[in-house]
Amino acid sequence: MEQMQKLGVILLAAGQGTRMQSALPKVLHPLGGKPLFLHALGTAQRLNPKPVAVIIGHGAEAARQAYSGTEVDWRVQEQQLGTGHAVLCAKAAFADFSGDVLILSGDVPLIREATLTAMVEHHRSARAALTLLTASLESPKGYGRILRSADGKISGTVEEKDGSEEQRQIREVNAGVYVASATFLFAALSGVKNNNRQGEYYLPDIVAIGLAQGKVIETLQVDDPREMMGVNTREELAFMEKTLRESINKKWLMAGVTLKDPDTTYIDGSVIIGKDSVIGPNTQLRGSTVIGERCQIDGSAFLTDAAIADDVHIRFSVVMASCRVEHGAIVGPFAHLRPGTVLGPNVHIGNFVEAKEAKLGAGTKANHLTYLGDVTIGRDTNIGAGTITCNYDGFQKYQSKIGDRVQVGSDSTLVAPITLGDDVYVARASTVRHDIPAGALVFNQREEKVREGWTEQKREQMKGKQK
Ligand code: UD1
Ligand code: CA
Repeated sequence: MEQMQKLGVILLAAGQGTRMQSALPKVLHPLGGKPLFLHALGTAQRLNPKPVAVIIGHGAEAARQAYSGTEVDWRVQEQQLGTGHAVLCAKAAFADFSGDVLILSGDVPLIREATLTAMVEHHRSARAALTLLTASLESPKGYGRILRSADGKISGTVEEKDGSEEQRQIREVNAGVYVASATFLFAALSGVKNNNRQGEYYLPDIVAIGLAQGKVIETLQVDDPREMMGVNTREELAFMEKTLRESINKKWLMAGVTLKDPDTTYIDGSVIIGKDSVIGPNTQLRGSTVIGERCQIDGSAFLTDAAIADDVHIRFSVVMASCRVEHGAIVGPFAHLRPGTVLGPNVHIGNFVEAKEAKLGAGTKANHLTYLGDVTIGRDTNIGAGTITCNYDGFQKYQSKIGDRVQVGSDSTLVAPITLGDDVYVARASTVRHDIPAGALVFNQREEKVREGWTEQKREQMKGKQK
């Protein structure tokens, strides 16, 4: 029967986060590649709660835009008068609701689903009005402390700023995660006052109110305090980033991915990597990047939203964004693949090659010093060293189309819009301005002049003129 009871969520994300010293609201600072508040929100949503109210204030519009999940009831807290006041802003969203409410902070990102489930279960089996998550910390500085009476039962809470010297010695802290019966919660909140050192309406003050009413108030301690750590400063954000990164790296190590140097490997939470792939040092895999099986990334790669198939070799120092690379391709070293680039199977992209909106067919090679922009290339074509697609005339961008088995000689410029048919040969150092039919050779006539002995004469002439 208890399972049937309804569960709603309130996520507090309205604070500016003064301690961040930032123009950007705290909950919008990225952690593991996504805004801070989306971490706890995503975890809470796995419990299928309804309604889900998110309290936003500073940066409300940006917060809404950063979110793309299932329906959320956004509530704006115009003035940040404290966590208790923030929860009250969600009251209307719970008008016809009589179940339990899970309250989370947008700045406590690593909270685990299992912990939330355990809290709800504990709360229900104890028939509590309120259950708080607590943790015992080595250095509890900055957190609200849990007060207990001689029998060990919770007797109240005190914020760091309001606490006595003695109370600050207490190492058990309020994790800022609560389960409360909705009826109790909103009734109790109307009794919360702001007569404290910060002049705020504190949510944890409902502990004392509940106790005075003889309600059952429960606590549950987390095993690993790292999951309840809040982000209040940039130092904590950096620490959290490291903690999160370590857990993501560990997940991929367990899943059969080799990380040559986990300390310098940065993988966003949303990234997927196939088995037996080997990731070298100084690599960043960001956004929706997917890496196939048996891929090799040598190192210093910076990949954003890249779709990499199986058996791809990304050599040292490659930057890629919004690209697709099919199986067996080799990219780099020192290559830059910009958005819209699609490399077919077994394509080779070599050093100092830049591609943008470039589609290369199977087996095609561009191995040296080349710019490929707004171009579609067929299969088994070879783009010689120093080839440039001239896609821009200073006003507009133009497309190039290059067929199958084309040989483009070194140092050629292809002036778009242009089409080279299949099996075309472009002689080295050609400037090609017109469409070339399949099977044709194209070359530019240039007179070759030789002046024997010229260098010696020149040096003689210049003698004494150098500084
Ligand atoms: C809060 C708790 C503290 C606990 C700690 C755990 C209170 C008074 N204190 O302190 O006991 O140990 O969390 O991390 O609750 N927020 C709003 N509107 C406001 C104020 C805050 O939405 O008016 C949001 C913030 O955006 C943040 C969360 O509530 O996501 C917590 O606020 P914060 O100011 O960080 O509280 P702490 O001082 O960390
Ligand atoms: Ca906090």
